[in-house]
Amino acid sequence: MRTQVAIVGAGPAGLLLSHLLRLQGIDSVLIETRSREHCENRIRAGVLEQGTVDTLNEAGLGERMKREGLVHHGIELLFDGQRHRIDLASLTGGRAITVYGQHEVVCDLIAAASMNGQKLYFDVGDVSLHDVASGSPQVHFTHGGTAQRIECDYVAGCDGFHGISRTAIPADVLRTYERVYPYAWLGILADAPPTLDELVYAHHERGFALFSMRSPTVTRLYLQCRPDEDLAQWSDERVWSELHTRFACEDGWTPGEGPITQKSVTPMRSFVTEPMQYGRLFLAGDAAHIVPPTGAKGMNLAVADVRVLAKAFAECYQHGRHDLLDAYSSTCLGRVWRAEHFSYFMTNLLHPSFDDDAPFANRLKMSELKYVTTSEAAARSLAENYVGLPFAA
Ligand code: FAD
Ligand code: DHB
Repeated sequence: MRTQVAIVGAGPAGLLLSHLLRLQGIDSVLIETRSREHCENRIRAGVLEQGTVDTLNEAGLGERMKREGLVHHGIELLFDGQRHRIDLASLTGGRAITVYGQHEVVCDLIAAASMNGQKLYFDVGDVSLHDVASGSPQVHFTHGGTAQRIECDYVAGCDGFHGISRTAIPADVLRTYERVYPYAWLGILADAPPTLDELVYAHHERGFALFSMRSPTVTRLYLQCRPDEDLAQWSDERVWSELHTRFACEDGWTPGEGPITQKSVTPMRSFVTEPMQYGRLFLAGDAAHIVPPTGAKGMNLAVADVRVLAKAFAECYQHGRHDLLDAYSSTCLGRVWRAEHFSYFMTNLLHPSFDDDAPFANRLKMSELKYVTTSEAAARSLAENYVGLPFAA
């Protein structure tokens, strides 16, 4: 088959790119290794920056998000048994975040794709990229046991951190920057109404904990754990007991309990690929960069990349201008590195160290926590990064 842009991966990045291209009259074919059900039910991110919400609304994708998304104007930092509110809205001129599950965004995008006749293949196998440095790249794959080939003008690699697109960039061109953290997150989803209407990021001597939510009846919670943590060791009782310990609060607040419907361990990593393009291949989202989840930036960065890429393709096809495509990597990397730093900062701030440096490092963390909750300048810096920096015009 023949298309203008072949898109590899139907996560938020690939699905949104195909949608934005369709709005500009640009044809694309999207291929995905997993099933539609798997993509629609994969529980991951939950926090949308204002700019992400604006992008989805402008693209006509915001109807259900506007109805069901929970708009939050602040977050809370809990340490030494006390909660401290960071008033995001007053510190950032009225900006806010919206809590709306990534899988809901994915469901909305897949629904829009099928309604608009987007060529979208789930359950594909043996995906490989060919001739991406030439004028006529190809994507090969199998579907239902049949070998298929897409001939295209460009390839968008939106296949996440474990995808194959990045490997099509020659080793002597590709530079990667990486940091692996000595801890992970054990995440649960519980059928329990949230007992507070804002997120709580807790620093406790036993480890970090995060209180979040998905809806008025579903609570999302995370606990810092070891990267090799064995989930079998975590009975529901142990999870709740540890959560109550880490969220212990002088005013008596604690998360409400309910049946746990999902439990998983997520490793923590910082990773950046430079450049994010090679020949006619453009990487977007987790295929190009990973952040530890503490700053809630991963999906938002994927959306930011795709905004830049869709605009660059539109300029190329509508006006024959290639300068935006040529500048894609450098345009994106400014925002990527800012988010990398913020995610690293939030991760270090909120996770106690258990390494040799613990006594000194943990005193510094406490000092920084007191600073960001008492200095307006420090709180404003945290808030403007958390809600997301505005997009360039
Ligand atoms: P992905 O969502 O990984 O999508 C890539 C797709 O490509 C997948 O569907 C995959 O199956 C497919 N694929 C892989 N290989 C191939 C192949 N060879 N061919 C075809 N398809 C392929 N981010 C936030 O912004 N806010 C948060 O609050 C937040 N919290 C998080 C909490 C957790 C526990 C985790 C794990 C992540 C969190 N993130 C958060 C990060 C966010 O989920 C990711 O950054 C986001 O999914 C990136 O989207 P993507 O489309 O780039 O990649
Ligand atoms: C959620 C995830 C995050 O990484 C975060 O910083 C805040 C909330 C969530 O899944 O709700």
